[in-house]
Amino acid sequence: MHQGPGRSCPISYRYAPDAFSGAAELCADTLWIAGGLYGNPFALQALLEAYAAEPGSKALVFNGDFHWFDVDPADYARVDESVLGFHAMRGNVETEIAAPGDDTGCGCGYPDWVGDATVAHSNRIMERLRASAQSSGRDLRALSALPMHLLAEVGGERIGIVHGDAASLAGWNFSREALSSAGGLAQAAADFDRSGVRVFASSHTCLPVLRRIAGERALVNNGAAGMPNFRGERYGLATRVSLSPGRGTLYGMRCGALYVEGIALRYDYAAWERRFVAQRPAGSDAHRSYYDRIVNGPDYALRVAA
Ligand SMILES: [Fe+2]
Repeated sequence: MHQGPGRSCPISYRYAPDAFSGAAELCADTLWIAGGLYGNPFALQALLEAYAAEPGSKALVFNGDFHWFDVDPADYARVDESVLGFHAMRGNVETEIAAPGDDTGCGCGYPDWVGDATVAHSNRIMERLRASAQSSGRDLRALSALPMHLLAEVGGERIGIVHGDAASLAGWNFSREALSSAGGLAQAAADFDRSGVRVFASSHTCLPVLRRIAGERALVNNGAAGMPNFRGERYGLATRVSLSPGRGTLYGMRCGALYVEGIALRYDYAAWERRFVAQRPAGSDAHRSYYDRIVNGPDYALRVAA
């Protein structure tokens, strides 16, 4: 078992099993959920334009890791201000920017199937991002104050929004890897039973998942709003949960009265790639870990996700 910074999941990341048992904190006919923006300002623009075109009663939730590549303090400040104008939750990135744990590193809680080099790069990216955040002029305490989970209601159905999984900010129980075993699926079903939600929406594992859970329930992970999610594709993804079908739906399912969908965010890729390389040249930690994914997408296919 691998250990060290970036591998552990701190106690403070955990929440109680009854976290989703109270009254809904927000109510709308359509809910957009965008995790993993990763400080991509072009994806943010595409998301806000798509969301603005959504008719009717609606809410937009950023479920964590909206910062990451925004290493320029001015970029950081713009992303921070824009996201905090909506319903924002903290991911491990925001938590570690604002209040770094002693031995937490990036706070990713990476499982053993993620290599040591990736973990080391992430820890160093986090250190650099923290320095940018501190010189951005933004109040970092606002990030510490953001919730780790949120309960929303769409058409009377309860939607649990998390960054990681039902028990932890950086949990991996909602990853495709975990859900591909009978034990992992049973664990997810037990999480749904205990929380009483119709849908869980997550993001942290950075690869999209849409899975039906027994009892006409759905687990949806948007992967990344600010990075490509499938090999050969360059769009980011947001999750949409609504009483009516959306436009630009890439994949989806019905879940009771709800439409649960993945929406493609087609941002200005060329501008983003230029900006990324200018700020993160070849040889840098971010370039080594992420450039291939930014250009070519991860080794992952839509048919596997949904
Ligand atoms: Fe995360």
